[in-house]
Amino acid sequence: METQIKKLDYERPDEKVIAEAGRIILAGGLVAFPTETVYGLGGDALNPESSKKIYAAKGRPSDNPLIVHIADKEDLYRIARTVPEKAEKLMEAFWPGPLTMIFDKNELVPGETTGGLDTVAVRMPSDRIAAAFIKAAGGFVAAPSANVSGRPSTTTAAHVAEDLSGRIEMILDGGQAVIGLESTIVDMTVDPPVILRPGAVTKEMMEEQIGAVEVDKAMIAPDSGIRPKAPGMKYRHYAPKADLTIVEGRTEDVTEAIRRMVGETMSQGKKAGIIATDETASCYPEGLVMSLGARKHEEEIAMHLFEVLRRFDETDVDCIYSESFEESPIGPAIMNRLLKAAGHKVIHV
Ligand code: TXA
Ligand code: MG
Repeated sequence: METQIKKLDYERPDEKVIAEAGRIILAGGLVAFPTETVYGLGGDALNPESSKKIYAAKGRPSDNPLIVHIADKEDLYRIARTVPEKAEKLMEAFWPGPLTMIFDKNELVPGETTGGLDTVAVRMPSDRIAAAFIKAAGGFVAAPSANVSGRPSTTTAAHVAEDLSGRIEMILDGGQAVIGLESTIVDMTVDPPVILRPGAVTKEMMEEQIGAVEVDKAMIAPDSGIRPKAPGMKYRHYAPKADLTIVEGRTEDVTEAIRRMVGETMSQGKKAGIIATDETASCYPEGLVMSLGARKHEEEIAMHLFEVLRRFDETDVDCIYSESFEESPIGPAIMNRLLKAAGHKVIHV
């Protein structure tokens, strides 16, 4: 299959291209599309055959449910059995935007889309191209992140093409995803609601709207053997080819420790890489340094993380050392992805 790549102007997306993309979905095909978080690999959420194709294109286990994307808040009531009042408050505050909520599903949503679960994850993206595309595609687009299973999520159309060219009908190119990390996922089928994956909508932001919100224990203590409630969170993710270690501590201590470890790695005849920031990049005289952006703008760090992980895969470094990013508000979401990429290999200094 030849994958068509269509560049769109964010301000005025070409309606003919959007309509064509919508027709592909309604005919059971697959289209990757931009959202404000990461690119999605879209198919018709109400067509079981489309969902099967999504799993096949990604190489993803079919017990790992997909998020259903909508473009109209009212459409939630067509697929959720019940919508708790707290969910309506969160919807009011954060939709459209980077928040996915989980509800009990009704019969309209096939089990193929939800990995066999009785619940469905729903998100309404704020990206204008995404919204127009979802409408043209019938209103319910199932979409995981548009990457081959296990690789970093995609934040540009070029990354999508790298992973999925030849496997899907079309890629809508809407430029760089502005957030760069996947949406926050919160389970609304329990009270208090539970965060299953951290993202740009933080615990504190939700608590301001609805009071107490909990965090999935598997997320806090990933090595505890507790099974995460989001099936996807149990899989190894984003892992670069090189051996990644995260170094935590005060910035001066971290840069010094990384310098030393890079020296040790090189003295063993191996190649070292460093994930740094604009502020610290010049602290490393040796090793291949890639900056995520300015530490004082944590949004930049989030936006570039997946891209830098991908770029390291194009190099021949054996070991990568990364600085850490605990600061709020997006820090926990960044660290969640970095820790997964590192298989939780962390050194405290
Ligand atoms: O920002 C995002 O959420 C992006 C864009 C494309 O919208 N999508 C995304 O999808 O990250 P994906 O499939 O890569 O991650 C969805 C996560 C998986 O970990 C999955 O297990 C979990 O959501 N999930 C989906 N439905 C669920 C459900 N009913 N119950 C629990 N977890 C669910
Ligand atoms: Mg994903």
